[in-house]
Amino acid sequence: MVTLNVNVDHIATLRQARGGNEPDPVAAAVICELAGANGIVCHLREDRRHIQDRDVELLRQVVSTKLDLEMAAVEEIINIALRIKPDLVTIVPEKRMELTTEGGLDVAKDIPRFKELVARMHQSGIEVSFFIEPELKQIDAVLETGAEIVELHTGVYSNLRDIKQIKLELERLKKAADYAKNSGLRVVAGHGLNYRNVFDICLISSIEELSIGHSIISRAAFVGLERAVREMIDAINYAVLSR
Ligand code: PXP
Repeated sequence: MVTLNVNVDHIATLRQARGGNEPDPVAAAVICELAGANGIVCHLREDRRHIQDRDVELLRQVVSTKLDLEMAAVEEIINIALRIKPDLVTIVPEKRMELTTEGGLDVAKDIPRFKELVARMHQSGIEVSFFIEPELKQIDAVLETGAEIVELHTGVYSNLRDIKQIKLELERLKKAADYAKNSGLRVVAGHGLNYRNVFDICLISSIEELSIGHSIISRAAFVGLERAVREMIDAINYAVLSR
């Protein structure tokens, strides 16, 4: 089984475009859960460009599946996470000018810092996931930190158009997912996944969860959020059944 976690940041982006209070990412989260999502993801960025502190607080109260707070490893956001206590945090790199998260975090570069961060989260009962490139070196580094989850970056795979390169990237993702799972980590994948390219990712049996935002929210503008979530779950289940 592969489960779906829906990222509601884009609902907040739409709200921020007018500075009012609609559409509300909290209402979106409720609809996603009713449609069968297994988790809700939001990214509290330092620049607060979409999700606001109030959203995270309300999401914590409303989400009944699990709440994944994506965040940079910076003290201000760490303290917010420790106070609000999402079920898990996903640590991502964050650059001010980027349109969205660009690439995985280099966990291997600073293992002691990330190890300390994991210990602080664990003390508050929060699980930790690291968003990384599908590289064995990064998985080894995540293991050293004591985290329990890795999220493999599928953005490279999603952007490729050449079939040979796509196959190579899928092999790289499979190798990393299998290695992480065999090492005892739970494996999530995400970034750039859509209704078409999700099929081959679901054939990698070590991947247990997907984190998807943009394609679902984009489709929701035309068919409604509940249907968009259900259709993604159907696409995932179809792929899993054809393994
Ligand atoms: N996973 C992580 C770590 C992300 O930063 C994002 C984007 O916010 C996603 C998954 C979802 O990516 P997309 O919106 O392209 O589906």
